Amino acid sequence: MKPDISSQEDIKLLVDTFYNKVQTNATLGYIFNDVAKLNWDEHLPKMYSFWGSLLLQEHSYQGNPMQIHVELSKITTMSSVEFSEWINLFYQTVDELFEGEIASEAKIRAANIARLMQHRIEIIK
Ligand code: HEM
Repeated sequence: MKPDISSQEDIKLLVDTFYNKVQTNATLGYIFNDVAKLNWDEHLPKMYSFWGSLLLQEHSYQGNPMQIHVELSKITTMSSVEFSEWINLFYQTVDELFEGEIASEAKIRAANIARLMQHRIEIIK
């Protein structure tokens, strides 16, 4: 039986494993590395804080992911293809490392946010 997500170390493992997959993914990798030219040392701590706030009630994340992704969609394709791939990789990562209530919650929250993001992106076109 795998553990559930219950600590900051778990969040870090989840985020690090997920973005390792993203970076080498044929559909998503170039958006992070070539389009956004992301500084991973800055991005990863933001993502620890985002997921820690959603799943462990850390209240440390301050940001506006919706706006950031709407802006991103103006310079690169952010369609159902990219969102499906993102969700697939996220589900795969959660399932390979964790199981339990918070692990399920992570997948539900991710899917809901992805759906809302995609909707916001579609209505500004
Ligand atoms: C097609 C799917 C997605 C792509 C290609 C994508 C790509 C990116 C990129 C390139 C950034 C960095 C933007 C920058 O700092 O310049 C970013 C930031 C971020 N993404 Fe995504 N993303 C996707 C979906 C999602 C989803 C579904 C979530 C949430 C469940 C999410 C959460 C975040 C958060 C919290 C940030 C940090 C925002 C901040 O700076 O405060 N992303 N994303």
